Amino acid sequence: MRTGKKILVSGVKPTGRPHIGNYFGAMKQMVDMQDEYDCSIFIADLHALTSVASGNLANSSGDDSALNVATNLAQNTLDLAIDYLAIGLDPKKVTLYKQSDTPQVAELAWIFNCITTMPYLSRAHAFKDAQAKEKETTVGVFDYPILMSADILLPGADIVPVGMDQKQHIEIARDTAEKFNRIFGETFAMPEPLITKDVAVVPGTDGQKMSKSYGNTIGLFASDEEILKAVMKIPTDSKGVDEPKNPDECKVFALHKLFADADLVDLKSRYEKGGIGYKESKEILARKISAFIAPLRAKREKIASDPEYVIDLLIAGGKKAQMKAEKKMEEVRKKVGLTFNQ
Ligand code: ADP
Ligand code: TRP
Repeated sequence: MRTGKKILVSGVKPTGRPHIGNYFGAMKQMVDMQDEYDCSIFIADLHALTSVASGNLANSSGDDSALNVATNLAQNTLDLAIDYLAIGLDPKKVTLYKQSDTPQVAELAWIFNCITTMPYLSRAHAFKDAQAKEKETTVGVFDYPILMSADILLPGADIVPVGMDQKQHIEIARDTAEKFNRIFGETFAMPEPLITKDVAVVPGTDGQKMSKSYGNTIGLFASDEEILKAVMKIPTDSKGVDEPKNPDECKVFALHKLFADADLVDLKSRYEKGGIGYKESKEILARKISAFIAPLRAKREKIASDPEYVIDLLIAGGKKAQMKAEKKMEEVRKKVGLTFNQ
């Protein structure tokens, strides 16, 4: 049943430590909108399983051996729950859960599979990239967007805050909703992506999109030393301190823009006029990032000291999410003929 509020749905995969790209691109929006929307926020552990074949489920200490996948995935899931709480998601306001606690999404994904064609899914960027890079692509990777469609459509999402790289997945969810509704009658609401313009693609320390898989991240809970080290390795050109510089071409400046404060205008004019070297710009940036991260890190440490509390929250969130999911699935099962009482 719909409350007066619009519904927001989003998730992050527990495939490693989140970075400031995840935060500014998607996670911050979840926190900012938790009062205004009825929020279902989850840890996409079923989606993370698509990384098993590539042995890419690193744990917090960076161990990416595939041997201990189950332990790593469970630990990453708990870590991500702590991260969500540390950035300010309030479990009293949002339903916070792990995706696998709503097995109805896998059931719905199967039903969607049966109305989706192979050529249609073959056009998905992530599948095409995986095929280009890996010798073996799993069915899970191929079907990833359909499971994501189920995640989004089952709780009735009106909006889905994500970074730009997820845009196509939301389009697939919309197409799937449309197709299901056409065949079986009006059932699913049409979700809209919420992609925040200035942070749609947060650049990494090498100027490419910041991503766990590119080794170019600044961890959302990194220590001051890690932040300084990451910032200092950002490549720059060889212009001297006094030479004018184009801020739009500077990878350091691109990250300054995340902290759009009063200093940014001043910094921009120092770049353009000359008078600031890259070293100073990097030191200012590292200080800004540290000042932003320090309170998050402290809050995280506190929450992490009581994992039982976090696990209990996830169990309670899972129950709540499952109840809502089951209600909608009853309607879906009737519509497709999986129950006797039509
Ligand atoms: P990664 O690419 O690092 O593995 P995920 O796939 O776990 O990140 O993404 C989690 C959320 O963060 C998604 O909504 C995604 O669009 C967003 N996101 C990831 N990287 C960036 C980035 N560099 N800029 C903006 N948003 C991002
Ligand atoms: N695919 C998303 C990512 O890589 C994670 C995700 C799974 C998701 N299901 C979702 C995001 C539903 C938004 C809504 O980050």
